[in-house]
Amino acid sequence: MGVDSLGYVAFNVADFDRWRTILTQVFGMEPRARDGSDALDFRIDENHHRITLYPTGEDSVAVVGWEVGSIARLEELAAELRSRGVELTAGTPAQCKARKVRQLYHYTCPVIGCPTDIYYGPLVSHTPFAPSRGVAGYKTGELGLGHIAFWVKDLKATLAFYQEVMGFAISDYIAWDDNDAVFLHCNARHHTLALMAEAEGRPGGKFQHLMVESTSLDDVGYGYDIVRDLGVPVAIEPGKHSNDHMQSFYLKSPSGFWVEYGYGGREIGPDWEVKNYDQPMLWGHRMVGN
Ligand SMILES: [Fe+2]
Repeated sequence: MGVDSLGYVAFNVADFDRWRTILTQVFGMEPRARDGSDALDFRIDENHHRITLYPTGEDSVAVVGWEVGSIARLEELAAELRSRGVELTAGTPAQCKARKVRQLYHYTCPVIGCPTDIYYGPLVSHTPFAPSRGVAGYKTGELGLGHIAFWVKDLKATLAFYQEVMGFAISDYIAWDDNDAVFLHCNARHHTLALMAEAEGRPGGKFQHLMVESTSLDDVGYGYDIVRDLGVPVAIEPGKHSNDHMQSFYLKSPSGFWVEYGYGGREIGPDWEVKNYDQPMLWGHRMVGN
């Protein structure tokens, strides 16, 4: 029971041009136009795309897409969600064609509140990934797109849902200052989902960040220089996380939430032991302005 990886994310964005500049120039992602739509897909690996921008004039998460490896397990998860009172709609042929998947179910996550797909059968392109700048590529495959983090209203209920229904397990915890965060995995990636208890000015349901993991530390460094040259605001300076050992920096996206560009995250093995950390960083990772 549960999902296998984070497959894709899509955002409704107000500043489409700035977003496109950041995804292509900083991250080297490959933009792919859609026929009959002003949405823009972005490719980072063998899959047709992993990220989509919709120029809707406002900023919100359009969808979080969780991949399930077979139709049987997708149907099993859909039945479990329905048994818990979640209203699912089966993807129409047009929706599946737009998302480039064989089948999907769409629903609003009952605990986080975000628009969500569960799907199987993503389209894999026969042509190679053609990066917009000379990047080595991204660590994806069975680990999925990367990781996402949300502030949540009810941390206990959200944890229960993502463990019992969505098939996640706890990797570790970090509590520091007024932050209370739990990190969860659904494959060998250290965490695919991070949940943070809501706090003053950080309401539950708000998207906190997306992380993509490069296969080259130098590409993250070049990306940081490009961010500075483009005048993109940096949220967190380069550093290394205490729990997943990711070396990364965070930029402030034009939508307000952050995007983390990482390298070298460690993976969950069979003997993984859950830990509880008192800081998110080993070194660096200073908040800009502090
Ligand atoms: Fe992160």
